[in-house]
Amino acid sequence: MILNTHMPMDLDEQLFHFLADYFREEDQRRGVYAVTAVGEFVPSSLAHVGQGMGNFLRRYAPHRRWLFLDAGSGDGRLVVLLALVFGLRTVGVEYDEELHRRSLQNIRRISRVHPPPHAPQILCGDFLDDALYAKHGLRFADFHVVFNYANNHTLLAEKVARDGGEGAYFLLYSPRPTGESFSGLRCVDTWELSPTASVCRGPYLQVYRKI
Ligand SMILES: C[S@@+](CC[C@H](N)C(=O)[O-])C[C@H]1O[C@@H](n2cnc3c(N)ncnc32)[C@H](O)[C@@H]1O
Repeated sequence: MILNTHMPMDLDEQLFHFLADYFREEDQRRGVYAVTAVGEFVPSSLAHVGQGMGNFLRRYAPHRRWLFLDAGSGDGRLVVLLALVFGLRTVGVEYDEELHRRSLQNIRRISRVHPPPHAPQILCGDFLDDALYAKHGLRFADFHVVFNYANNHTLLAEKVARDGGEGAYFLLYSPRPTGESFSGLRCVDTWELSPTASVCRGPYLQVYRKI
C-alpha cells in the first residue's frame, strides 16, 4: 500500500516544520552519512517516517500511551519527532558516542523551544545488550514498539521475538521492502512511503508483530 507523504497527516504542522527546519540545518552543517563501529548512520526522512508512524498509530495504537524504542537512534531525530509531535514516551539507543552526544544536544536545544510532554531518553550502547536497559531502569520487554532503520535488524528481530513483550511490534524502515520473515514475528503490513510513487519508489515501513 502506498502512503502519500507530502505532509504527514494529523501531525501538528507548526511543530513538524520546526523540526524539519532544525534538522535540515543540521544536515547541511554536519552531513548525512557516517560509518559507525556497528553500522552506518543515515537519518530517516522526517516526512516519510512521520507519515508511516501516523498511519501505524491510527491503525494499531490509537491511545498512544505506548513506549517506543528507536534501536540505533543516530542523531535522535526520530525519537524527538515521536515525543514532540505524537506525544509518545520514547527511548533511543545509539552505539556511537559522538552521535549519542549529538542527539542529547539536539534534544536539549529543541526542548528549550518546544518541550515535549515526555522527555525522550537516549542511551549509549548496544541495543542488543540487556544490561544497558537494566542500568537505566528499563527492560526490553517494556517496549511496545521497536523501530529500526535497517541496521543489524536481523539480530534485533530475533531479540523482539525472544525477549519482547507480548504482542510487541517491530517496525523495519528500509529503502526497499526486504520481504524478510523472522521466526516468532508475523508481518502485518508493508507501506510504501513515497511522496510521488510514479517517480521515486520507497522508502518502506514493514510492520511485524510478535506472535
Ligand atoms: C541508519 S541509522 C538510523 C538513525 C535513526 N534511527 C534515524 O532513523 O534517523 C542507524 C544507526 O544505528 C546504529 N546502530 C547499528 N547497530 C547498533 C547497535 N547494535 N546498537 C546501537 N546502535 C546501533 C548506527 O550506529 C547508526 O547510527
